[in-house]
Amino acid sequence: MNIQYHETTKTFHLYNDSISYLMTILKNGHLGQLYFGKRIRDREDFSYLLEQCPRPMTACVYDTDRTFSLEHIRQEYPVFGTTDYRQPAVEIRQQNGSRLCDLTYRSHTVTSGKPRLAGLPATYTEADDEAKTLCITLEDTVTGIQADLSYTIFAKGGVLARNVRFANNGAHSVQLTRAMSLCLDLPDHEYIWQQLSGCWARECHIHTRTLEPGVQSIGSMRGHSSHEHNPFLVLKRKTTDERQGEAIGVSLVYSGNFRIQAETDAHGTLRILAGIDPETFTWKLDCKQTFQTPEAVLAYTDKGLNHLSQTFQKLYQRRLARGFWRDRPRPILNNNWEATYFDFTEDRLIEIAAKAKECGVELFVLDDGWFGARSSDNAGLGDWKPNKDRLPNGITGLARRIEALGMKFGLWFEPEMTNKDSDLYRAHPDWILSTPQRSQSQGRNQYVLDFSRAEVVDAIYAQMADLLNSASISYIKWDMNRSITECYSSAWPADQQGEIYHRYILGVYSLYERLTSKFPNVLFESCASGGGRFDPGMLYYAPQGWISDNSDAVERLKIQYGTSMCYPVSSMGTHVSVTPNHQVFRNTPLHTRANVAYFGTFGYELDLNKLTPQESEEVRKQITFMKQYREVLQYGTFYRLKSPFDNNEAAWMTVSSDQKTALVGWYRILNCVNGCFTRLRLEGLCPDYRYRNSRTGLFHYGDELMYAGLITSDETAGQLPPDITPYTDFESRVYVLEVMDA
Ligand code: DGJ
Repeated sequence: MNIQYHETTKTFHLYNDSISYLMTILKNGHLGQLYFGKRIRDREDFSYLLEQCPRPMTACVYDTDRTFSLEHIRQEYPVFGTTDYRQPAVEIRQQNGSRLCDLTYRSHTVTSGKPRLAGLPATYTEADDEAKTLCITLEDTVTGIQADLSYTIFAKGGVLARNVRFANNGAHSVQLTRAMSLCLDLPDHEYIWQQLSGCWARECHIHTRTLEPGVQSIGSMRGHSSHEHNPFLVLKRKTTDERQGEAIGVSLVYSGNFRIQAETDAHGTLRILAGIDPETFTWKLDCKQTFQTPEAVLAYTDKGLNHLSQTFQKLYQRRLARGFWRDRPRPILNNNWEATYFDFTEDRLIEIAAKAKECGVELFVLDDGWFGARSSDNAGLGDWKPNKDRLPNGITGLARRIEALGMKFGLWFEPEMTNKDSDLYRAHPDWILSTPQRSQSQGRNQYVLDFSRAEVVDAIYAQMADLLNSASISYIKWDMNRSITECYSSAWPADQQGEIYHRYILGVYSLYERLTSKFPNVLFESCASGGGRFDPGMLYYAPQGWISDNSDAVERLKIQYGTSMCYPVSSMGTHVSVTPNHQVFRNTPLHTRANVAYFGTFGYELDLNKLTPQESEEVRKQITFMKQYREVLQYGTFYRLKSPFDNNEAAWMTVSSDQKTALVGWYRILNCVNGCFTRLRLEGLCPDYRYRNSRTGLFHYGDELMYAGLITSDETAGQLPPDITPYTDFESRVYVLEVMDA
């Protein structure tokens, strides 16, 4: 890995074994983009990559050069309003009303490692030789605004992390009205755009489209990254598939309002922008103050989508997630939400927990309803004190009883919310986000606390810390069940109201930071009505997240498959729940529910007492299986093999780092008769290793399994003989492949 600056041609070349990123200082001092893609050898002069020609109807920067129009030059951080009519990366409103600025090169530095971002989640290094960082300082002399463009190239993987820091060195305050984290101008638009979109209970479905002239975008204006669009974009070539071909990934390490967009111009070039949503953002930058954008992560591969995903998964698992639980197999949990909803007593919880323990569960999680006056979703949020009617011995007593059973204890919170029927709201009605003289919209009967105010965050921290100090709590599920409306804070002046959405997220991050630092061994699971805020920002604080409230195994195939495009298996909260399923009322076999949930953190979302003795026995075996293989399942290299979006079958697999163990999940949605022979061509195995197939007992070399395939056909390819237990819809298997001799 290296960062090279060629003085004679004013060219920056960032490269490692996989990628090259090239920029140049243009003749007007702005930064031009030359190349991003597969590694090319370094040399002094790449100026031929800067294509310019005179075009009609073009506004030019210089009287004497009809070729120099920013409209037709690929740039690194384009400004608003001067010869470029595409959407800019930055806009700065000044006191005279102008929004023009002229960010020109001043200096640059190269350092080893990667600096932290103040107050924001970001990828990091643990040793200086893991990455190098280039910081290019641009300056607008009229306003005195400085922009530090930061590029970190990691030694391993085709990945680059970017952010921008603004400083006001001038004499007047300005308003940043747009401050994107990343701009990437590409020379052509021959890509398929792929996004992860959906809604509550249908998160991260894969959608694709061709790029047409104009702007296409995904984003959120809800105050959180949202169920609707994940802050992640893939651009793939038309011939790219899971196993081969070029693709670029853009991921934003941010949990609030965002926008990722692509603009195809009239001459076929493509501008990608990613950052805080400009529609809902302004930031007053006073003299001597700074503003830090979130980080955007850019990845490139020429080896297909699985490889692109693995690049993100590995980076996010090892150098975005942090702390005690980052590399540890996750505890198998039993959450009481779908077992009881709000209807529980301490004894009832102990009954559920005791059975869970008997089956081998390691962590019992008490979900919503344990605090304040909460017996439905009408009351109690904000009062983080145990409800003594339900829990006479408080959380301390309950945790003690759970631990006496031989399990760890976990607890649900929704720290950012309050109900009007709560002591917190009665004492501080001005602590919610709401606009004066306007109605206050509720969502699930609750209101959003004004986390842009330090005293509000302090008060919630104090309550949570008290509880964590007073009881043995090993896990926290941090929920968030409504979007922001009427966003306004009574604590901030009129000219800073455009900052509130971002300040809110900064408040959320600061609470996470304080809690995770003070209680470093507690495992945090993020949640926002399922996957409403499942994003890289959250992953920095909470190494796992509840990816969806939809716990149906068939629905989960799509959700987990889509989520894996960017996120590691170790980050995906996956539970076995009851049938008929509570969201889609579908009956799936118990083994299929587990076979899907194994590829995640794994747990149960039901009262195991309600199972038959045979089912309990099956659960015991599932838990034993998960304990044996969770290290590989959660931390192995993950491959998608067959998409549930296109087939009646879905499949994926994970391979241990020594390639001696692999687990293949195979799922058939609807049953069939007289069907096709089916096989899966596996990936990531060692061709020379001899693997034993756990289902057949037969041995196969890795090359056979990868090139000839693993046979998945069963008796449904034909007419089922009378002595075979009939298959039903939603059949599935997990194949364990283990090397017996290497
Ligand atoms: C939404 C979450 O996604 C559920 O798992 C559960 O915790 C409920 N909230 C509780 O209100």
